[in-house]
Amino acid sequence: MDDVRVPKHVAIIMDGNGRWAKKRGLPRKMGHVEGCKVVERTVEDAARLGIKYLTVYAFSTENWKRSEEEVDALMQLFRYYTKRLLKIAGENNVRVKMIGERSRFAPDIIDGINKLETTTANNTRMTFVIAVNYGSRDEIRRSVTRMLADCQAGVISAAEVSEERISSYLDTAGIPDPDLLIRTSGEERLSNFLLWQLAYSEFYFTDVLWPDFRKEELVKAIEMYNSRERRYGDAKG
Ligand code: FPP
Repeated sequence: MDDVRVPKHVAIIMDGNGRWAKKRGLPRKMGHVEGCKVVERTVEDAARLGIKYLTVYAFSTENWKRSEEEVDALMQLFRYYTKRLLKIAGENNVRVKMIGERSRFAPDIIDGINKLETTTANNTRMTFVIAVNYGSRDEIRRSVTRMLADCQAGVISAAEVSEERISSYLDTAGIPDPDLLIRTSGEERLSNFLLWQLAYSEFYFTDVLWPDFRKEELVKAIEMYNSRERRYGDAKG
């Protein structure tokens, strides 16, 4: 990792937990349990590598369609990790921010999310963004609703609707767009993740299943990002 430019913002679609469990004859939820451990490690790895923003797709607006058992297991993990992340974020000087529509979660999970955000608000080493009940189209829908309300109230005018203004109404307001998107498990789709924000990002797809994702894979993605950046630089120069 000598002489490499570390992307400022890395976004990850963590995929393959179910297949990882299936391969071992385990219930799907064990894949999520293992996936959470990898999230924890990746937060620390990313902070140490000098990444300033790490965003992960933890639960999509479509994930509610999974079996009740699996949704319940994921909710239990959120419950546990909102507490656990208080410790991890504190130790690593990491600010945690959630994007997505949190009001659909149980009140104690919402409280946990709010507490995690307020407690870590002044941490400066890295911002860890967790997308929960997140869908990009839903985010855009919600932001248009708020923008129209502000227009009606005279806060903004239609003429002021610039790209920057739209960005400022999204859940990711104030967060720079990702430089690099990683998706694990061999799937090559965006699955309604950060559609607006990923307009200019580099994509890295790997066959590695999320529970098997390690620092070496993150470093590989960063090296690929560098090689593409360099080519782009050459073409321009
Ligand atoms: C995709 O695997 C993964 C998910 C839908 C959930 C990912 C969530 C976590 C790892 C927990 C995150 C927790 C925190 C605290 C941020 P899949 O189930 O779609 O796998 P498959 O495609 O093999 O079935």
